[in-house]
Amino acid sequence: ASSKEHDQEDAIDELIASLPISKGLVRPVRSLYQNFWCPTYLLPNVIAFQRHFEAKDKDILLVSHPKSGTTWLKALVFSVVNRSRFNISNTPLLTSNPHEVVPFIGRRSLPGLDGMVESRLLAMHIPYPALPESVRQSDCPIIYICRNPLDIVVSSWHFHRQVARSEWSLEEHFETFCRGEIMFGPFWDHITGYWKESLERPRKVLFLKYEDLKEDIVGQLKKVAEFVGLPFTEEEEEGGVIEDIAKMCSFKTLKGLEVNKSGKLLNTIMEKRSHFRKGEVGDWVNHLTPSMVDRLNNIMQEKISPLGLRF
Ligand code: A3P
Repeated sequence: ASSKEHDQEDAIDELIASLPISKGLVRPVRSLYQNFWCPTYLLPNVIAFQRHFEAKDKDILLVSHPKSGTTWLKALVFSVVNRSRFNISNTPLLTSNPHEVVPFIGRRSLPGLDGMVESRLLAMHIPYPALPESVRQSDCPIIYICRNPLDIVVSSWHFHRQVARSEWSLEEHFETFCRGEIMFGPFWDHITGYWKESLERPRKVLFLKYEDLKEDIVGQLKKVAEFVGLPFTEEEEEGGVIEDIAKMCSFKTLKGLEVNKSGKLLNTIMEKRSHFRKGEVGDWVNHLTPSMVDRLNNIMQEKISPLGLRF
């Protein structure tokens, strides 16, 4: 590497070292960077993405707050945009985890993305204001999925415990969540950032809800297909293509596939199966106390509801 590159790396290291970090036992350690809590180990790739990524109009970005349905969204959008190449009998989803077919910005470094063919399908958890300028300026569509924070907090607690193999209690996790120190949090800024943009630029940001997908997957898939400029034809509709995609990407099907049952994800410590837990709406009733529910509902009432968003 040239000395200029070394200087840039040193400057990034210095920047990261100067950021506030999460307190206590929160793992992985997070840094407060541009108003969100970014896992510190992902920051070099996130910063490189912000500074050097050149969005193309044909790129499609999938964004979510962690545990909002990222895995599902990846499988669904991958299937929609690649349906002329693959059907349910030969889709790569039969042999690869959804996270392997759609790269995640943060874990994957930039040079790997340059080799991807159009239309690049990329996923990330970065909040809207922190997206690279080229993404915000270009016409590349962004599909955002959100989920009721009561379910996110329960889902992320189970996930952390499994991945970190820690005895991290639900109470500690809940506190961290309410302080906004959850990965890529505060969750209220994350959700409202994309929500506002979807209202202002509905052709730029499609805002989906996990709960709506659960209720009417066919209707939501049609919306996604239209949004990315690939609406289902009458022939496809009559041929059951939408139902096929819905079934292939369903929790039951994906969880049951051998490829998602064992082994670790890419070069991480994450078990592939930890991305498939229960896949339901409202599991929070089984975990959160009434006072936790009140507290989180109050936060939503204050931060999210005024913008016309309800769960
Ligand atoms: P639960 O922990 O409530 O079961 P993410 O993919 O953003 O990490 O979110 C994970 C959550 O989505 C988990 O929720 C997981 O079980 C659920 N999930 C994964 N695949 C799904 C699918 N195909 N359909 C519905 N939910 C899915």
